[in-house]
Amino acid sequence: MRYGHFDDERREYVVTRPDTPLPWINYLGSEAYFGIISNTAGGYSFYRDARLRRLTRYRYNNVPFDLGGRYLYLRDSESGEFWSPSWQPTRLELENYECRHGMGYSSIGSRRNGIEAETLYFVPGGENLEIWRARVTNRRDSEAKLSLFSAIEFCLWDAWDDQTNFQRNFSTGQVEVEDGVIYHKTEYRERRDHFAYFACSEPLAGFDTQRDTFLGAYRSWDNPEAVERGESFDSVAHGWAPCGSHHVELTLAPGETKEVVFVLGYWENPADAKFDPEGSQTINKKLVKPVIERFLNSGEVESAFQSLREYWSELLGTLQVSTPDEHADRMVNVWNAYQCMVTFNMSRSASFYESGIGRGMGFRDSNQDLLGFVHMVPERARERILDIAATQLPSGGAYHQYQPMTKRGNNDVGSGFNDDPAWLILGVAAYLKETGDLSILDEEVTYDNEPGSESPLYEHLQRSLRYTLHRLGPHELPLIGRADWNDCLNLNCFSTTPGESFQTTENKEGGVAESVFIAGLFVLAAEELAQIAERRGHTDEAETYRADAAKMSEAVLAHGWDGEWFRRAYDYFGDVIGSAGNEEGQIFIEPQGMCIIAGIGLDDGKAVTALDSVAARLATEHGIVLQQPAFSHYYVNLGEISSYPPGYKENAGIFCHTNPWIMIAEALVGRGDEAFDYYQRINPSAREELSDLHRCEPYVYPQMIAGKDAPSFGEAKNSWLSGTAAWNFVAVSQWILGIRAEHDGLRIDPCLPKSWEGFEATRSFRGATYKINVSKPKGVCRGIAQVVVNGQKIKGNLVETHPAGAAVVVEVTMG
Ligand code: GLC
Ligand code: GLC
Repeated sequence: MRYGHFDDERREYVVTRPDTPLPWINYLGSEAYFGIISNTAGGYSFYRDARLRRLTRYRYNNVPFDLGGRYLYLRDSESGEFWSPSWQPTRLELENYECRHGMGYSSIGSRRNGIEAETLYFVPGGENLEIWRARVTNRRDSEAKLSLFSAIEFCLWDAWDDQTNFQRNFSTGQVEVEDGVIYHKTEYRERRDHFAYFACSEPLAGFDTQRDTFLGAYRSWDNPEAVERGESFDSVAHGWAPCGSHHVELTLAPGETKEVVFVLGYWENPADAKFDPEGSQTINKKLVKPVIERFLNSGEVESAFQSLREYWSELLGTLQVSTPDEHADRMVNVWNAYQCMVTFNMSRSASFYESGIGRGMGFRDSNQDLLGFVHMVPERARERILDIAATQLPSGGAYHQYQPMTKRGNNDVGSGFNDDPAWLILGVAAYLKETGDLSILDEEVTYDNEPGSESPLYEHLQRSLRYTLHRLGPHELPLIGRADWNDCLNLNCFSTTPGESFQTTENKEGGVAESVFIAGLFVLAAEELAQIAERRGHTDEAETYRADAAKMSEAVLAHGWDGEWFRRAYDYFGDVIGSAGNEEGQIFIEPQGMCIIAGIGLDDGKAVTALDSVAARLATEHGIVLQQPAFSHYYVNLGEISSYPPGYKENAGIFCHTNPWIMIAEALVGRGDEAFDYYQRINPSAREELSDLHRCEPYVYPQMIAGKDAPSFGEAKNSWLSGTAAWNFVAVSQWILGIRAEHDGLRIDPCLPKSWEGFEATRSFRGATYKINVSKPKGVCRGIAQVVVNGQKIKGNLVETHPAGAAVVVEVTMG
């Protein structure tokens, strides 16, 4: 069953029932001010850091779930009946309910008793505020007298403290109300220079800022006392829980529409101009007022919204394709690219599954996310790379995470995830191939943010490789440290204490645990660095890296090959993991993907053998599971991976992030049907019909789909913030459709399903536009017969870089 449909033309997903299996969310904002918003207006907002600068409150794991949001209530003054046009929180029946999640905006509309309401929510470019534009229309044949109430609950900034420190926080809340604008200024009197404001375009009949007065004792958001009685209390919060609610009275003639604009924003004053008059405790509002006035204006709102739409058209315009498959088209052209931008902005911080208080930016995660958005915002990718690299440790190792607010490494989690450094090389390589901007390699970048420690970025990459080479185990394979890509394979941890962190506990000395996955990653990264070294004229160095890679490949073939697939690791005691001889966890997906992508086994048939093993042992109709057989109990020597019940997360769940590695590997061995089939199994659009089983949003990838060992096989979880976004984008655009940026141009090397007759694509690359037409006689999956560029047949399939502004026509015939 479906809960809505795609509107491809408008790049929207239209939810047509409010009671989706889970909240189906969207993101507002793309620079500094962000929010999440569900299809029933649930969610919250923050400035830069979802933990430290949370504007509004949201209660995770609440019942009913998804409560706390950007709410409006309509009240009929005659009958006294009131309802939420977004369904939550009153959940009264609505006609024509529709939520349109678009690129950086959501609009939620409905009708009840002849009153239509539609609210558009978005964050204008360059601003630290969000707009709610409500349009209320009277479809009755008589005049309607209505009240419109807004409602948000302020968070006292630090979201963690806000949920735990009640003895203090019940006494600190402060607001000001001036000219109908509600200012939330908790802690402004002391060390904060920032406040939130909530304004309304219409004259107010009243307001409330004390939550418990607005709601009434023992009531919830579904029947606030102020709304029920049709009159605000004009409450001013002192302590307890500050909220913001405006009351606007509307009289609408039949057919009449009224627009009411609300603006919720964040403002920072200069530290020496906090108060006005100086010496008082009153917020200086001189600087913020013009901004508030500007965005309460309907014309400004409309033009800001049009700019937002243009911004996204331009970003998404970087790559547009037209293939025989509508699911592939809409994911590549719209939703997958959009999800990549969201993972870029959010990393793994704020979603319906990530509470915004847990993690900072992952070193590995952010480098991988980059692979998915570098073509859309190369300048921001550059900045991100330099931020990440500045946290790298002098050893070449890396903090596993860093804080977006301070841009510093997170000591709580620390380092020792031995795959982390290699991802920096892949991230930088992707940036260089996209832009050709070699100057980034000469940027002076610190280690561990220590001033004075700077070296060129290029040296960071050299140290990344050395980090692995200096940490090899008895089989000449890389030591795994705390974990590799799989944060949950903790081979040096041996935890028996409940609640202890699997990631940071290392309680045994002298282990020799090694990772075949890191070996594959190293081979891949060494080749990338060799290509970069060549471009800097260091051919000797490039040779050394290739020799290191060859040696590592030999070690993989000697000790990482199990006969029918690549092994996963060696444990603390030097015993093999991911081998036919193991009782459980005999075969893992990660080394099959990564070793083949690195080229290991491509020339001796091992890659195909490994992929056949994946198909036979790991593939399911809902995607490829992470390993088999699932761990039936907790293994102290394996760590968190075996802590999950079978079929969930890393214990044989369909961990979607890894599936594209297999798609790429299939493309590398030329099996287009297999590659595309795997692509479709987890493609959310292709799973739309399964919404009751899948449960997550049909427009974005989840991190995980329950595997075949789970009772809820096929059920997705943890949507949005996952490396799945970037890797699927890479798999489909670069390996299936085969349009790949390389240092010297665009490589066109598709690997398609047999039945396809071709496809078309438009790709902007270094300022020029390439119109690519691929035609393919049925029956072939891969191989190029000829490439014609602007009418000239070229040698091979690398289309060289054209000058910015050029329009390049590329005709590719496969065969
Ligand atoms: C999560 C983490 C990612 C890790 C993966 C597997 O998605 O964000 O860093 O690689 O889990 O454990
Ligand atoms: C949890 C998750 C895993 C993630 C890790 C990050 O263990 O299962 O996916 O990578 O946390 O620390």
